[in-house]
Amino acid sequence: MNLFSSKCIYKYISFCISDKSVNVSTHSSLNTFSDLHHIYLALIMLKSFCPKPRHNMATWNLFLVIMLMDIMVSGWRFGFGADGLSMQYYSFSCPPAEGIVRDTVNKALRSDPTLAAALIRMHFHDCFIQGCDASILIDSTKDNVAEKDSPANLSLRGYEVIDDAKEQLEQLCPGVVSCADIVAMASTAAVFFAGGPYYDIPKGRKDGRISKIMDTINLPAPSLNSSELIKMFGQHGFTAQEMVALSGAHTLGVARCSSFKQRLSNFDSTHDVDPTIDAQFLKTLSKTCSGGDNAEQNFDSTRNTFDNDYFNQLQLKSGVLFSDQTLFMSPKTKPIVNGYALNQAMFFMDFQQAMLKMSLLDVKEGSKGEVRANCRKIN
Ligand code: HEM
Repeated sequence: MNLFSSKCIYKYISFCISDKSVNVSTHSSLNTFSDLHHIYLALIMLKSFCPKPRHNMATWNLFLVIMLMDIMVSGWRFGFGADGLSMQYYSFSCPPAEGIVRDTVNKALRSDPTLAAALIRMHFHDCFIQGCDASILIDSTKDNVAEKDSPANLSLRGYEVIDDAKEQLEQLCPGVVSCADIVAMASTAAVFFAGGPYYDIPKGRKDGRISKIMDTINLPAPSLNSSELIKMFGQHGFTAQEMVALSGAHTLGVARCSSFKQRLSNFDSTHDVDPTIDAQFLKTLSKTCSGGDNAEQNFDSTRNTFDNDYFNQLQLKSGVLFSDQTLFMSPKTKPIVNGYALNQAMFFMDFQQAMLKMSLLDVKEGSKGEVRANCRKIN
């Protein structure tokens, strides 16, 4: 075998192994970059190390077969031609998609850090109703009252951030990037911006065509207790541990007085005030509510920082919502709260896994949905 060509094959194979192992072993933030660039780098390698030999065509052909197989494997990883979700879904159809969403979110959060909470909550409320299909973004029409006009969603914010990303993407790659994927990507970007874990999610969700106010009855109410929450999240395939980890999203943001005032008076037949509230914190909540139904109370001491302080507050009986405090009061979920309060890394790990799982809830693929041109209305 021609020495030069065998060296070329050897170099190419070592390149493939090292490049792919970087991909697997490093942080997933590198996935899109390294997968896409694997092929580019392979082509550069081909040009620099492997000029077409004058004599040994058999070796040259073998080299081409190896490279073709490599590209096919990469293609499978990219999800070429498939309707299914994949990490690199937009690598060829709209390579800047993730970057544009991330930059748009970062820009918005730099001027208003409170939007991180809003974007994460938006993703949750989207996925729990009709699956992660951007049904939350659809505007009501004269014939239909949409999800976003339900009382449970009236305090959702951040729609303009999604619109901004969508407008840029429609300019660049019209009809390619779904609103459902934008909401999901915006949520991961928001978690990271606020100091939470980085995690990558598969893309390829299609947008739904239905958004009905009635469906929002399936969003969890702040009056639910631990068993009811376990049951409700269980219906979506989550374990109690995943439910508690997801509730940790309340490390960001605020609740309005209307969401917790029932804890402060006429609580139940035997108690005027919810007995699970710490006496000092009761004063704080009452003071907030003196500002009216829309007065805001931070969930924890760091409303724009993603950390495990929320769980510390639950241990101090200073959870804002009844549904928060119940996680510490119930023996079923108390050990999980204690674990996350003690170990932030464990909370981050479980949170990112549970968010990834949530981002895949009842996803519409292929012809089961569409890519809306405008996130606020069906095509
Ligand atoms: C466990 C059941 C849950 C209940 C009962 C619940 C309920 C609520 C309520 C009542 C509010 C305050 C709304 C207001 O007063 O305007 C709120 C805010 C929030 N929720 Fe949840 N939630 C739950 C789970 C989740 C999950 C799973 C996530 C995300 C993964 C999430 C993310 C948020 C965020 C970030 C905020 C703050 C929003 C802001 O400041 O704009 N929640 N939630």
